[in-house]
Amino acid sequence: MTESNLISIAILGGTGKEGKGLAYRWAKAGYHVHIGSRSADKAIVAANEIKEMLGAESFVDGKSNLEAASEAKIVVVTVPYAAHRETLESVKDELKGKILIDVTVPLVPPKVSTVQMPAAGSAAQEAREIVGNDVQVCAAFQNISHEHLLDNADVECDVLVTGTSKEARAETIKLVEAAGLRGWDAGPIENSVVVEGLTSVLIGINKKYGSTHAGIKITGAKRDS
Ligand SMILES: NC(=O)c1ccc[n+]([C@@H]2O[C@H](COP(=O)([O-])OP(=O)(O)OC[C@H]3O[C@@H](n4cnc5c(N)ncnc54)[C@H](OP(=O)(O)O)[C@@H]3O)[C@@H](O)[C@H]2O)c1
Repeated sequence: MTESNLISIAILGGTGKEGKGLAYRWAKAGYHVHIGSRSADKAIVAANEIKEMLGAESFVDGKSNLEAASEAKIVVVTVPYAAHRETLESVKDELKGKILIDVTVPLVPPKVSTVQMPAAGSAAQEAREIVGNDVQVCAAFQNISHEHLLDNADVECDVLVTGTSKEARAETIKLVEAAGLRGWDAGPIENSVVVEGLTSVLIGINKKYGSTHAGIKITGAKRDS
């Protein structure tokens, strides 16, 4: 296999539901995806599953979280909130000068349909505190259920992208669109509190109305692209 011309993406916890779905979408779009895990063997199994779906010519491999983070230009974190700090602490030295996209929702079981934000304001703001100012941190995909990521279906939910710089948000929106979703610049990282909190609202709606992937769409606004 020759190398992808597109930027490389690491997905920490990419063996899980949300991470594997995003890995599939980005590998399908031609990106080189490094699936990260606490266990390189487990990551290789997940990468092979995606290769089976997309064909041997797709650019997906499995590595430890640390190796994946060190090899990629953009690092995405998709782990449960309980593992968020530990995962970021374990790779932070590899993130300098890169963009970190945080997908984490700070759910506190059992009350996952109640908004419960950490002291930093949001999981993404906590990530920023952990990784420091040499890393651009964006928050995205928190409202996208993993449900349809692996089956190529249209996802009826927009992606609100917040982040520490306009440039990082623009790069993240490129990845949103490469995944077949619609992304919006939703402003500074402080605004991630709203987007992360919205996930609990959507989980509550799913429970109340018997759905699995309630979403949101921005209406009344047009974008150039
Ligand atoms: N599922 C969704 O539909 C969805 C939608 C939007 C946002 N999110 C958010 O995305 C994140 C991941 O969700 P998910 O449903 O994909 O989670 P998941 O499948 O339960 O876990 C994802 C991965 O995180 C790693 N992990 C799990 N427990 C860990 C621990 N105690 N310490 C370190 N790593 C651990 C595991 O990777 P290894 O064992 O390979 O290390 C696991 O495969 C969460 O913050 C969630 O709120 C999920």
